Amino acid sequence: MIKFTIITLFKEALKPYLQSSMMEKAVRKGLAEFDFVNLREFGLGPHRSVDDTPYGGGDGMLLRCEPVFNAIESVKAKDPSAKVILPTPVGEIWNQEMARTFAQSEHYIILCPHYEGYDERILSIVDYKISLGKYVLTGGELPALIIIDSVVRLIPGVLGGETSAEIESFSDGDNLEYPQYTRPEDFRGMKVPEVLLSGNHGEIAKWREEHSGKVE
Ligand code: ADE
Repeated sequence: MIKFTIITLFKEALKPYLQSSMMEKAVRKGLAEFDFVNLREFGLGPHRSVDDTPYGGGDGMLLRCEPVFNAIESVKAKDPSAKVILPTPVGEIWNQEMARTFAQSEHYIILCPHYEGYDERILSIVDYKISLGKYVLTGGELPALIIIDSVVRLIPGVLGGETSAEIESFSDGDNLEYPQYTRPEDFRGMKVPEVLLSGNHGEIAKWREEHSGKVE
């Protein structure tokens, strides 16, 4: 069982995805659990403020330390072993090997920043800074979903075929999936390669090996 506790101001942006398709199935089968913490509940003052202007000036608002620390500590009080992930464009670029490693642990807290950034001291409570790529998103929710999806699908029993995740793209090193075809044999003149119709398993395996992509 893997658990993700997501600290966010926008639970409604996350829920539809996590309640659909394979993520829903993983929960139903007791293989994954998703929990939400509303950062607003840890906000300060009558407006439950979670952000403030930067010292030294500059545009935008930054996530404040107090609500973030209090929210994370409320989760860690129940499970001190939970590891904290911060999606940030300056983190380590996420890849399949990291997804495989993460799939072996039990409880992650994902802090979804919003606004223009966060107080640097927040990093002292973070275990992993993760970037989804060299572009800037408005918040951590989309990265959280991508991290969760890529990890949960590797949990044995989540995908349909026992070995789907094992034989598929990336899983045995840097092999990308080979091209695949289903019916019809001829679609608008585009034909399925003859070897795949041959029933010769040795030749098929060879063809697939030859046509597997490689990551740069
Ligand atoms: N937050 C904003 N942009 C991001 C990115 N590219 N990766 C992870 N978190 C982000």
